Amino acid sequence: MTRQIRLALRAYGVGGPGQHGLWKDPRVPNNASIDIDWYIAQAKAAEHATFDALFIVDSQFIDASYPPHYLNRLEPLTLLSAVAVHTRHIGLVGTLSSTYNAPFNVARRFASLDHISRGRAGWNVVTSMDPGTSRNYGLDQHLDYTTRYGRALEHVRVVRGLWDSYEDDAFVADVTRDVFLDPTRLHPLNHEGEHFTVAGPLNISRSPQGQPVIFQAGVSEEGRNLAAQVAEGIYAPGGSLESARDYYADLKRRTAAAGRNPDHLLIFLGAQPVIAGTDAEAHRLSREIFDADNDFARKLAAFGRAFGAYDFTQHDLDAPFPDVAALAERGNRTWGTAIVERARAEGLTLRETVLAFTTYRPSPFTGDPVTVADTIESWFAAGAFDGLNLGFRTSDDLARFVADVVPLLQTRGLFRTEYEADTLRGNLGLPIPENRWTAARRPLVAGAVR
Ligand SMILES: Cc1cc2nc3c(=O)[nH]c(=O)nc-3n(C[C@H](O)[C@H](O)[C@H](O)COP(=O)(O)O)c2cc1C
Repeated sequence: MTRQIRLALRAYGVGGPGQHGLWKDPRVPNNASIDIDWYIAQAKAAEHATFDALFIVDSQFIDASYPPHYLNRLEPLTLLSAVAVHTRHIGLVGTLSSTYNAPFNVARRFASLDHISRGRAGWNVVTSMDPGTSRNYGLDQHLDYTTRYGRALEHVRVVRGLWDSYEDDAFVADVTRDVFLDPTRLHPLNHEGEHFTVAGPLNISRSPQGQPVIFQAGVSEEGRNLAAQVAEGIYAPGGSLESARDYYADLKRRTAAAGRNPDHLLIFLGAQPVIAGTDAEAHRLSREIFDADNDFARKLAAFGRAFGAYDFTQHDLDAPFPDVAALAERGNRTWGTAIVERARAEGLTLRETVLAFTTYRPSPFTGDPVTVADTIESWFAAGAFDGLNLGFRTSDDLARFVADVVPLLQTRGLFRTEYEADTLRGNLGLPIPENRWTAARRPLVAGAVR
C-alpha cells in the first residue's frame, strides 16, 4: 500500500496567537474555549472525515494581554475525556507539561483516558515556555533548558515504566478459583533518578493500545533529541517547504541515530489552510484575515511571550531593539534568540523588529480545493511531513476542508476512506509496545520449552 497522509485537527476555541479578533466572528461563540459541545462537534466532524486525531494544546500562565483562547480554556484531559464518550475512532492527544506535573499523576490520567476512549489516548509532552508558570507551582523561577529537557526525558521514561505496572494477563478474574489478580503480573517500578523517585506500581491496567502514544513539541536541540529518543509523533511548526524538509530529515536522522526505526516517529506539520472558490479569492480572504488582526499594540504584547511575558511598552519603539536576550533563556530560547539575532544583524529598532517578524505571510495551503490538495500532495511527496496538524479559524472552514479537500486526497489514494483500527496506534501504524516484564520473561519461557 502507498504511504498515506495522517491528519489531525488542532481545535481551538476563540483564538490563539495571531487570532485576537476571532472571538468577534459571529460563527464562534465567545465562550467556545470552555464549551465542550464546541469541541465534541468538531471532533465528530473530524471523525466523520476519518482524521487520525484531535489535538489539544495548552498553557498554564496568563496575563490580561494573552490571546482570548488562553484566558479561559478547558484543561486538556478533562476536555478529551468528555470527547471520548462521544466518539469511537478518532485519537485524542492532550498537551501536558513534564515540568509542572509528576509522572505518577500523568501516567494515571493518560491511562484513564486510554481506557475511557478504549485505546485512543496520546500525550503531547511539552516543557512549558512561559516562565511565569513557575509561580503557579511554588517555584521562584522556571527551569533552564538543560534541566527542563532532562526532566522531560526521565519523566517520559518513568511514565512508561508505570504504564507497564500490570502485564496484559494480570487480571485473572476467575470466580471459580476465587482469583481476581495474579500478583506475579504486578510490578513496582522502584525508580530512583536525577529528577524523580517513584516506587509504583500504578493502579490501572494496560489498555487495548498497550500504552498511550507519545507526542512532543519543541524545536531546540534539546527538544529534537528528546523526540528522537522517546516520541512517536511530533507537532512540528509550519514554515516554508525547505524548513519543513530540513526539520523532517533532521528528526528522522536523529531517531535512527538513537537506535529507533524512523518510521515509528510521525511528524505532523502545523498548517492552517485558507480555502475559497478560486486561488485569487483564497488569497484575498487570507489577506483580509491578516488585516483584521493586524494591530501593532497586540503584536507588541504577543512579542513579549518569548521573553517571559516581557512588557515591551516600556521601551522607545524607535530605539534599537533592547538587550533582552537573557530573558529568553528560561522562556522560549529558540524563538527569543531568532528575534535578538535578526534585530542585531540587521540593526533594527524595536518597531522594525516586531514588524519584521509579524509581516504578512500567507499559509502555503491557501487556494481553491485543488490547489490546497496539490500543495499537500507535493509537500508530502517532497518529504516535508508524515501528517498535518490542521488548524481552522471556524468550524465552517473545517467543514469546507472536509467536504472539498479530503475527497481529493482520498481519490488520489493519499488519505484513508475508513479507519483501519479502533485505536490511535492502530490507525497511525505504530506498534504496540510490549510490556517490559512480559518481554523480560520470554527468553526464560522459550528456554523452558527447548
Ligand atoms: C509546534 C509547537 C507547538 C507547541 N505547543 C505547545 C503547547 O501547546 N503548550 C506548551 O506548553 N508548549 C508548547 N510548545 C512549546 C514547547 O514545549 C517549548 O517549551 C518551547 O517551544 C520552547 O522550547 P524549544 O526551544 O525546544 O522549542 C510547542 C512548541 C512547538 C514548536
